[in-house]
This record gives sequence, C-alpha cells and structure tokens, in this order.
Amino acid sequence: MIHKFDYLIIGSGIAGLTFALKVADTGKVAVVTKKERADSSTNYAQGGIASVFDPNDSFERHIEDTIRSGCGLSHPEAVETIVSEGPERVRELYTLGAEFTAGKDSSGEPVFDLGREGGHSVNRIVHARDYTGQAVEKTLLEACADHPNIHFFKHHYALDLLLDEGGESCLGVCALNSEERRVVYFLSKVTLLCTGGLGRIYLHTTNPSIATGDGIAMAYRAGAVLGNLEFTQFHPTTLYHPEANSFLISEAVRGYGGILRNSGGERFMERYHPDKELAPRDVVARAIDAEMKNSGDHCVYLDVSHLEPEGLKRNFPYIYDNCIKYKLDITVDPIPVVPAAHYICGGVVTDLHGRTSLKHLYATGEVAMTGVHGANRLASNSLLEAVVFSHRAAIDAHQTAGDYIMPDSLPGEEYNGRVEYDEEEILIAHDLIEIQRLMWDYVGIVRSSMRLQRAYERVKIIAEDVEKFYIEQPLTESLVELRNIATVAGLVIRCAQFRKESRGLHCMVDWPERDDEKWRRDTIIKSGEIYN
Ligand code: FAD
Ligand code: SIN
Repeated sequence: MIHKFDYLIIGSGIAGLTFALKVADTGKVAVVTKKERADSSTNYAQGGIASVFDPNDSFERHIEDTIRSGCGLSHPEAVETIVSEGPERVRELYTLGAEFTAGKDSSGEPVFDLGREGGHSVNRIVHARDYTGQAVEKTLLEACADHPNIHFFKHHYALDLLLDEGGESCLGVCALNSEERRVVYFLSKVTLLCTGGLGRIYLHTTNPSIATGDGIAMAYRAGAVLGNLEFTQFHPTTLYHPEANSFLISEAVRGYGGILRNSGGERFMERYHPDKELAPRDVVARAIDAEMKNSGDHCVYLDVSHLEPEGLKRNFPYIYDNCIKYKLDITVDPIPVVPAAHYICGGVVTDLHGRTSLKHLYATGEVAMTGVHGANRLASNSLLEAVVFSHRAAIDAHQTAGDYIMPDSLPGEEYNGRVEYDEEEILIAHDLIEIQRLMWDYVGIVRSSMRLQRAYERVKIIAEDVEKFYIEQPLTESLVELRNIATVAGLVIRCAQFRKESRGLHCMVDWPERDDEKWRRDTIIKSGEIYN
C-alpha cells in the first residue's frame, strides 16, 4: 500500500507535532509514529524549557551558559538562534494551552515561575510543576487532533528512508504497520525525521522504550551526514530502586535546594566544583560515578529533608507520588540516586533550517545535531531546541514542498517478506541485553581505549549477525529495533574511539586532557567514513 502526502513526519514528540501544526495549513500531513501518539521522551520531560523571561536575565547570559556547558563545540549561531527565538516559541505553547506554572501581572499577562537547573547562572526554566513534558505533549496532540489536514498513523514503525535513484533525495519512508502486520509506503514532498534519542542502547536509561535510535540508524543507512555521537549525556540523578526503571529525579530538585550526600552523609560536591550540586551535568555525573567507585556503594543520596514539605509536594507532585509508590517519602527520606543514560548531543547534522545533507529530508529534535549542545547539553535546552528548529524547518519546508513534483511510484520493489510474529524472540532479547550491558560497562561515563575496543569488537559481530537475521527472518518490531540499536551502538563507539581527548561528556582515562588545537571540531561520520 502506498500513501501520498505533502509532508511526512516520523515521530510524534514535541519536534514532530510542532512542525505538523506549522505546515498543516499548506498541505496534507502524515504523522507516522511507532506506538501510541503520546509515547515519546517529550511526555516524560520534567524540569522544563530554558528561556529568557526574568528581567535580570539576558540573551547574552543564556548564550554564555550554553556555550560554556558545550565545552568549546557549540556552534554560536545555532545557540543564538534558540536563545533569541525561544521566548516567542514558549509563549506560543502557553497560548496554545500548555499550563506552565505562572502568575499574572497587573495587565493579566502571564509571569512564568522560573526554576533553576545545573549550569544556568540564573533562574530560567519555564515549567508545568514537574510534568512539563506531559503538559506540552497533551497540548500539541490536542491541537493536531483538531486540524483536518493532520493524519496520524500510530503503530507504524518506520523501517528505512526511500531514496531516489541517485541516492541524493529522500522520497519518503517504508514502515511496518504493527497492528495489521504489513509493510506500507509513504511518499512525500518533504520528510521530517524527529524520532528522538537512543537511550535504550544502554542498560540503564531515563528514556522510554521508543528511544532506540531508529532515526539515526535510518539516516546513516541512507547516507546522511551524522555527527558527535560520542557525546552521550548521563543524567546524574535517577531513582536507585530495582523496580523504578531509572525514574528521573529532576535536576530542578537540586535547583530547589536538594543536596547530594554520600553514604557517610558528606556533601561531596563541594570537593568537585564551586557550583556544587548545580555544576554542569557532566561534572555532577562524573562526581557521583567517582564517589560510588571509591566507596563501593551502589548509589549516593539526594537529600531534600531540610526543605519545607508542603513546598516540595506542591512543586514536585509527580516525583513525590512516584517515590511514595516505592515507600520513599522524599520530605523525610534521603533519595537513593544513580546516573543513567539520558540524551544524545550528536545526531543527524542539520543547518539552521533543519535541512540535512539529503534533499527533502529535514531533522529536528533530539535526533538532530544542530550544533547547539556541543560536548554537553545545558539542562532544559532540548525542548527549546526542538520547538525553535521545528518552527524554522516548517517555514523552509513549505518552500521546498512548493516546487517539487512527487514521484508516482516507488523507487524499488514492494516488500513481500514475512511479517508475522517470530518464535525466536529469545535470540533478539539475548543480543539486545548483550549490547546494552556492553554499552553500560564499556562506553559509559568514564571510558578507556581498551574498553571501547572491546565493546566495538563485540558489537560489530552482533551487528553483522543481526543484519543477516533481518534479511532472513520475519520482520518484527523487536528485530527492527535491535537492528537499529546495533547500528547506533557501533556508531557511538566509533565516534568515541575517534576522539582522542577528554571533553564534556566524553571522558577518557588514557586521554585525560582537553586538546583544543587538535580536537575542537565536530566528529563527522558518513557511510563508514569518520573525520573531523
Ligand atoms: P521524542 O519526544 O522522543 O519523540 C520521538 C517520537 O518518534 C516518538 O513519537 C516515537 O514513538 C517516534 N519514533 C521513534 N522511532 C520511530 C520509528 N522507527 N517509527 C515511527 N516513529 C518512531 N529536555 C528538556 O529540555 N527539559 C526537560 O525537562 C527534559 N526532561 C527529560 C526527562 C526525561 C525522563 C527524558 C527521557 C528526557 C528529558 N528531556 C528534557 C529531553 C527531552 O525530553 C527530549 O530530548 C525531547 O523531548 C525530544 O523530543 P523529540 O520530539 O525529538 O523526540
Ligand atoms: C531534568 O528535569 O532534570 C531533565 C532536564 C533535561 O534533561 O534537560
């Protein structure tokens, strides 16, 4: 079956839905998403959206904080773009119905309550208590549902991008309809890749199950230019509990006064950085890692018991309720926390309009590398980046779509293999856990050349096996994701092996120094070649 649309959007998080709303008046839009509409990282975002609203803040300060956090690799133009266009995009979300925590000024205008997070020199995080992502996702989904030109295709797993004969232009995507168990095709004038991150390549991650790096893998197979995949960000504080599935304890809790202590009760961050708990995220994650390694403890503790209980419950209701489920009352008990994989700073390289190296293919949100985050993303700059660049991409895509004649037929044969469930799921589950464990143990917060080499050798063998399996076996959702996870894990390791220095999130024991002369450049990877 072939669907034809003016705009094809792969992903229904903040990036995809923002773009959908902005192009929908000019053409027919398909939003292809692999699970339910709201299944996205966006839906889990807690802290908020960084943007300049405080009269004591300024664009210059937000730019400075972002660039400092990026450790020399942020692209100044991209940073200036998200910072200067941010307030307008945030106001649009509020006007659309996102219930950000706010009061009103004398003329009835909203005055946003601004939270604080690590690396920010002032309070600038617009938030909806501690469930900002859910508020944003719900608002955007409701607005999309009301638009007659926007059509959702849920339970559709994008498999691969469709290219023209020359391999230069994207024509659409083929996808597995997992409910009807068949492969369908989407042809479009413009395709937006907004499939989010890759946290699920790691054993412990804050990311929901959709975050399997599909977009990065598809773009790589299609020959697009990718970059900076070595910069995987680990969030310092997730709940340490066997059933909590790395539940995030927002950085905003530290911004509100939370103190990190080791098992001896010491406020250890004093030894690591003058900003203590509000140091940049890479610094805090490494400090916790060092404390745990030195003591042999399985976690450290986030202590908020000195803060007024009612204020805590009012500001962090989602975190409070979740912890209560695990019999932990955060107003009195120290919260056991450990770091977990959280965000990918690199991705599909784009320009300031979301254009990738392939014609008619755009990328925005976490899957993209716009240059904003450099070697370490500043907290709450991700939702901001997504909303700003999706807006810009929508304006550009409108023009791209305008002068394009869509092909009538598919560039190749339709898939006619088997798509029923497979009895050999155990093989897939085994390979998956092996990759996730390798990535966690060998490609984590602190890395070494030897560990990376070991990880690469193993992942390469698994990836080759999986590729054979993919061709021979029935197509299932778990096989599709395993294939992407194996590809992306390999790319992350290759980028990490390439960068022979320590910078931001990439910390190497055998290359401990930052070397600006040789390495103040993005790592670029395309069709097997890696360079900077
Ligand atoms: P997502 O929101 O992840 O959406 C991706 C979409 O693509 C999903 O709909 C998914 O189903 C779909 N998809 C994926 N693969 C396929 C495929 N093969 N076929 C079809 N569909 C596919 N950032 C902040 O700025 N502030 C915060 O407070 C914050 N808190 C966070 C808390 C948590 C727990 C997590 C996990 C992340 C947080 N982040 C935060 C990061 C931020 O939420 C994400 O980077 C951002 O939401 C990404 O948006 P996106 O639209 O690019 O991707
Ligand atoms: C958090 O709330 O700590 C997450 C913020 C982010 O990832 O930007």
